[in-house]
Amino acid sequence: MTESGSERVLAAFRKSFGPKPALVRSPGRVNLIGEHTDHNLGFVLPGAVDRAIWLAIGLRDDRKLRFHALDNGEHFEGSLDEIRAVPAQWPNYLLGILSELAQRGIELRGVDCAFGGDVPIGCGLSSSAALECGFAFGLNELLGAGLDRVEIAKLGQRSENRFVGVNCGIMDQFASCLGQEKRVIRLDCRDLSYVYVPFERDDISIVLCDSQVRRQLTTSAYNLRRAQCEEGVAKLAQHYPEIRSLRDATLLQVEAIRDELDPAVYRRCAYVVAENQRVLTACAALERSDLAAFGAAMYETHEGLAHGYEVSVPELDILVDATRSIPGVLGARLMGGGFGGCTINLVEADHLEAFHAAMAPVYRERLGKEPMIHVCKLAGGTELLAY
Ligand code: GLA
Repeated sequence: MTESGSERVLAAFRKSFGPKPALVRSPGRVNLIGEHTDHNLGFVLPGAVDRAIWLAIGLRDDRKLRFHALDNGEHFEGSLDEIRAVPAQWPNYLLGILSELAQRGIELRGVDCAFGGDVPIGCGLSSSAALECGFAFGLNELLGAGLDRVEIAKLGQRSENRFVGVNCGIMDQFASCLGQEKRVIRLDCRDLSYVYVPFERDDISIVLCDSQVRRQLTTSAYNLRRAQCEEGVAKLAQHYPEIRSLRDATLLQVEAIRDELDPAVYRRCAYVVAENQRVLTACAALERSDLAAFGAAMYETHEGLAHGYEVSVPELDILVDATRSIPGVLGARLMGGGFGGCTINLVEADHLEAFHAAMAPVYRERLGKEPMIHVCKLAGGTELLAY
């Protein structure tokens, strides 16, 4: 669903709900480096991609809510008077946005919404953030709420934290809302200051290898790790009162109190502190076009995610390790929260075919799966296509 993605969503809306919706495109995201640093108020380097969710949204004159998820064929009906989490997961991404808008004092009206797209679900491209940001963006326009992109990203994150129950950081929503073509975003997750870093090289491709392990039941593992990071911060702060988050800590400080930390808490903290530093050195490498150094940092991130933060699975390790001997691969690592989804690989464009040829037997023989390899391009953030 690419060019015709918008057509399909519009047609479904017209059939179920009526003639004149607003149409929004909201992209998924990749992250070059900086994993699990966002909720520790550190640095990340994500960008929006050319896979998106399209949403057709119309306001109603009553308080009804009618949602249609095209890709799984499901429908939801509810009311603005009863906004509470439901067992089916996807309506919660929309209900959470309504709940947050209401809490900001924005006067709501009933909503019809049909959506669908080509951001693979559970694949680590953050289809949930794309959906949240797209819905919030569309309603912001329709209701004249006057929120800017950063506020929309924050609203999406709060909705995911408070309504969906994942204590995620701001990275996914920020990248979806503020992405730009041919650029990644170096974002400081503490004060949300950001710079766009050009990444428009024709000679390097961003390649995703889907492990086809769908991320499920990851909420508790994600939240547990976030709590472990907070436990580490509390201990560090007893010795170094200036430390408010792991972003403020050095490896020396973490080492100095190692005996006082639960071993798992120590591993989480050591990973996050190193990863945050790695984002900065990797960005410096990018600035001097040293893609080899950037790629080496990606492999280090994978090691840290596998053994320190402990969010990898054997399939992701196999996909990353296999690339080490493939010519033209600069770096590879698992991307996103972990426990499944994709690896991200930087591959020299003239080695792309060889990359496919080398990975196919890895998929077939070691994972028992058909290859699922996507080349993606950096794209613009959430946008209103028609109103
Ligand atoms: C998920 C979360 C993000 C971020 C990543 C890991 O995608 O939604 O906030 O923490 O995991 O970097």
